[in-house]
Amino acid sequence: MSQPLQYRPLRRSTLDVSELVQDGRVHSAVFTDRDIYEQELDRIFHGSWLYIGHTSEVPKKGDFRTRQMGKQPVVMIRGTDGQVRVLLNRCRHRGAVVCEKEAGNTKHLRCWYHGWVYDSTGRLTQVPAVEAYGEDFTLEKMSLASPPMVEEYRGFIFASLSANVVPLRDHLGKAAEMMDLLIDASPVGEIRVSAGVHKTVYRGNWKLVGMDGYHVHYVHASVIAAWNRNSDTGIGATHRGDPFDDHSASRTRDLGHGHAMLDLTTHRMSHYEKFTEMLAGVTGGTEYVQAMHAKHGEKARLLISLAGDPHVGFFPNLQLINNQIRIMNPLGPDETEVLMFPVLFEGVSSELNEMRLRQHESFYGPAGSGSPDDGEIFERVQKGLHAQVEPWVEISRGMNREKTLDDGTVEGLITDEVPQRGQFREWLNLMTGDAK
Ligand code: FES
Repeated sequence: MSQPLQYRPLRRSTLDVSELVQDGRVHSAVFTDRDIYEQELDRIFHGSWLYIGHTSEVPKKGDFRTRQMGKQPVVMIRGTDGQVRVLLNRCRHRGAVVCEKEAGNTKHLRCWYHGWVYDSTGRLTQVPAVEAYGEDFTLEKMSLASPPMVEEYRGFIFASLSANVVPLRDHLGKAAEMMDLLIDASPVGEIRVSAGVHKTVYRGNWKLVGMDGYHVHYVHASVIAAWNRNSDTGIGATHRGDPFDDHSASRTRDLGHGHAMLDLTTHRMSHYEKFTEMLAGVTGGTEYVQAMHAKHGEKARLLISLAGDPHVGFFPNLQLINNQIRIMNPLGPDETEVLMFPVLFEGVSSELNEMRLRQHESFYGPAGSGSPDDGEIFERVQKGLHAQVEPWVEISRGMNREKTLDDGTVEGLITDEVPQRGQFREWLNLMTGDAK
């Protein structure tokens, strides 16, 4: 007869991070423990590449958006020189934020504490009664600070608060190709993130979000039932049938560096005819299909079928899913903010973009058929994880059948926990290694 399990309280001072991720399982402390969370902020959110925003969010000189890098507030702003910068949102005097609005356009960033003024490039331009600081004090030395690393990939701005990181392109690796699948779904190869944002906060850990092909049949059972009936759920014709069955050609992929995807390509391409038929009923839909074929030849079928949805997560804070860019902001070990930005295509009719917005709302909106259920299940998970008699979380599904491909990526069936293992490999690397 097996022995009853004994409750083993976590001893924070002795918690060894390197023991918390093991083959096919992780300790629930990685989701619940405040000390671990603080280490995550230091080593992951303040120590590696984070997605900040898209250049199309700040199209005009002086446009800005405030964002978070872990606990640290930043402003993404297009300066008078046209350059998009990421600046720490902290006055060089005594530290007040210099930009309190979420978005807008400004010539100056003015600190309301003592009136210091910075221009849109971050340069300090005015200090009231500056002579009191003495001769050594110069405005030039007191510009707003920037993260040491800021780089762009096709309009996607990333920054790192640590200089000890690989170049962005190396960090993105194979996953950059998936970003291309979104951008190149526009007939002119440009997207526009101008449709606003909707936000949700759930009481659960930030690592619970996404890239899980196993939950769909249960958390989203009603949606799958509708797809199986070939009903129109508002998402579009490529979403009919069941791509989340292990008998399907759908796959999970670990792309390296914690980036992972649910690859629904085969399923989506099998619906190409139905999807283009549906597009033909939208003003500008036929012209879109023609323009894509003229530009991309045979590859147009893939790009049109995916409709800009590579369904990929970039560790740790970005996902490109369905018609949205999604940012995850950790607010605590048990609280996460998710920002969802619907993506519009440049070079298409307004009706086609309107369709994309309605599709987004149908699943991810506050009254959508999917996203609210995800938030609910994440909260149930977080609640359950506090039961610590047996503290391990199982992520071994499909370990015995996953394959490492020639390009080094790992492939599994659609319900396999390949993405979770890939994400935790990177988590462990960042939490225990010397970065890079
Ligand atoms: Fe900004 Fe004093 S803190 S002017």
